[in-house]
Amino acid sequence: MAKVRKAVIPAAGLGTRVLPATKSMPKEMLPIVDKPAIQYIVEEAARSGIEDILIITNRGKGLLEDHFDHAPELEQRLEQTGKWTVLEEVRRITQLANITYVRQKETKGLGHAVYCARRFVGDEPFAVLYGDDVIVGEDPACGQLIRAYETFGNGVVGVREVSPEDISKYSSLKVSPIRDNYFACTDMIEKPGPGEAFSLYSILGRCVLPPEIFRILEHTQPGAGGEIQLTDAMRELARRDGMTAVAFTGTRYDMGSKLGVMQAGVENALRHPEIGEAFRAYLKELAKQL
Ligand code: UTP
Repeated sequence: MAKVRKAVIPAAGLGTRVLPATKSMPKEMLPIVDKPAIQYIVEEAARSGIEDILIITNRGKGLLEDHFDHAPELEQRLEQTGKWTVLEEVRRITQLANITYVRQKETKGLGHAVYCARRFVGDEPFAVLYGDDVIVGEDPACGQLIRAYETFGNGVVGVREVSPEDISKYSSLKVSPIRDNYFACTDMIEKPGPGEAFSLYSILGRCVLPPEIFRILEHTQPGAGGEIQLTDAMRELARRDGMTAVAFTGTRYDMGSKLGVMQAGVENALRHPEIGEAFRAYLKELAKQL
């Protein structure tokens, strides 16, 4: 079985739920304390054994490219002033993976964004990490899905149970338990209407797909919201070949929503080695007034 070496990170959405912050920069560049969301995602992919990453861009392409590139003037200044720790961190970012970029010329949906990666992917299985879904955990979520792909040999989706009130905003999967946190998935629907949901299991932010997905995406018509939905293409794959759903471990932050951005900031500030303690004291004090 071919090894999963490549990953695609779609980061070309309009980010309308977090406007006006995203008017001139992609939501993937929103910081969680001192690190942009996209860096968490690239680090997760690298920790999962991914070597080559394609980021699908739109506006703010320059910002994304610059973040993962050398910054000679900055590095020189940090060297001169002896700020070695931060210099090391700034240089480490440039070495996380081989990163290339392709522009999605029209914002036609996540399925269309992934379709833009067909030349980069070629004839190999690949991981997709949604650019606005940050997952923090010991065992990288992408790696958990890759292990499932290696075990079961078909496409894999990362899932979580969502609340009955929220299911209409996400996808809903038809699943049956295999063992542990693995499920067999045979059907799915994007943004189910009343009575249409299969279950409360929804795809959240990660999948591993065989290259056949591109042959499906070629003819996938616009679906929910008038966008070409990746879920619609995966539905065809799931119905035909079956897919594996993995209830991954880790804490997920939706950087496409205002609440998600704040939760990511607060929780990661509490864990932060430099400001964690001071922030905890501040938060305790603040909580007394709530
Ligand atoms: P979302 O549907 O959450 O992104 O897509 P959005 O369209 O920016 O959301 P709104 O406007 O706030 O509702 C999930 C991921 O897919 C990417 C997004 O950047 C995000 O990482 N995406 C979405 C694309 O790359 N291209 C698209 O056409 C749509």
